[in-house]
Amino acid sequence: MIVVTGATGNVGGQVVALLTAAGERVTAVSRRTAELPEGVRHVRADLDDPAGLKDAFDGADALFLLVAGQDPRAILDAARAGGVRRVVLLSSQGAGTRPEFYRHPAAFEDAVRRSGLEWTILRPGGFHSNAYAWAESIRGGRTAAAPFGDTGLPTIDPADIAEVAATVLREDGHAGRVYELTGPALTTPRERAAAIGAAVGTPVRFAEQTREEARAQMLQFMPEQVVEGTLAILGEPTDAERQVSPDVERVLGRAPRSFADWAGRNVAAFR
Ligand SMILES: NC(=O)c1ccc[n+]([C@@H]2O[C@H](COP(=O)([O-])OP(=O)(O)OC[C@H]3O[C@@H](n4cnc5c(N)ncnc54)[C@H](OP(=O)(O)O)[C@@H]3O)[C@@H](O)[C@H]2O)c1
Repeated sequence: MIVVTGATGNVGGQVVALLTAAGERVTAVSRRTAELPEGVRHVRADLDDPAGLKDAFDGADALFLLVAGQDPRAILDAARAGGVRRVVLLSSQGAGTRPEFYRHPAAFEDAVRRSGLEWTILRPGGFHSNAYAWAESIRGGRTAAAPFGDTGLPTIDPADIAEVAATVLREDGHAGRVYELTGPALTTPRERAAAIGAAVGTPVRFAEQTREEARAQMLQFMPEQVVEGTLAILGEPTDAERQVSPDVERVLGRAPRSFADWAGRNVAAFR
């Protein structure tokens, strides 16, 4: 049995669907109730309360863990006690490139490495699905606002992250690996807005925000340290952050999906 945390999220929801379709027994964990495929067991629990995870881990073999809660060691101890032998951590590119800002994912990586479990770490860069932040302004006013409009980054499709995770959870040969997960090409925010316009069939105007405007907006839903790290990546990416990684193709045997492909599949959010 495989335990999937973050089961109501962009990545976790698709990990649950892929594992179920492959015939695995799945326990989905989230704080909210979730719409799940038939046969999936749901345990409502908070990663901030590792004792409450006992029921979820009982009889589990593997765990898909996301960075949430304050005590990764206690989560991993509870997992091991329940029978988990393999853990796949959804970390973040920033844990490798900017650990001074991404301390929380870096602490989870450290705990996973020391857990005594067979581990694999996934380090995605920015998600294609961060463009959902534009859904309302595109639906209402055909406008997308972002800072650093002409700085390219190789954002990734959350569906590809989920497929890599589901593969690594089920397949041997990935122990002790850190996979850097990116899309197939650099795209700028301006190009992503245009790709959504093309998918919707009406042009989308790109409005460049100042760094301060973007910072104020991001502080509403992210801790300050992560906001600073994210702005640094968006505005002044290092060579490593701009690098298109071969790891999705290495694991899946196919190229990662483009932003335009994601926009086409998610066009309903922008109409
Ligand atoms: N977006 C990016 O560009 C990016 C880049 C690199 C890494 N990441 C990482 O990828 C992760 C997943 O992204 P996503 O887009 O799938 O996220 P998402 O759609 O926001 O989903 C987050 C999930 O985490 C669950 N969750 C949050 N806190 C929890 C807690 N204390 N206990 C139990 N469950 C908790 C939420 O479920 P409930 O609310 O129902 O509990 C939800 O299912 C992020 O958390 C981030 O660490 C994101």
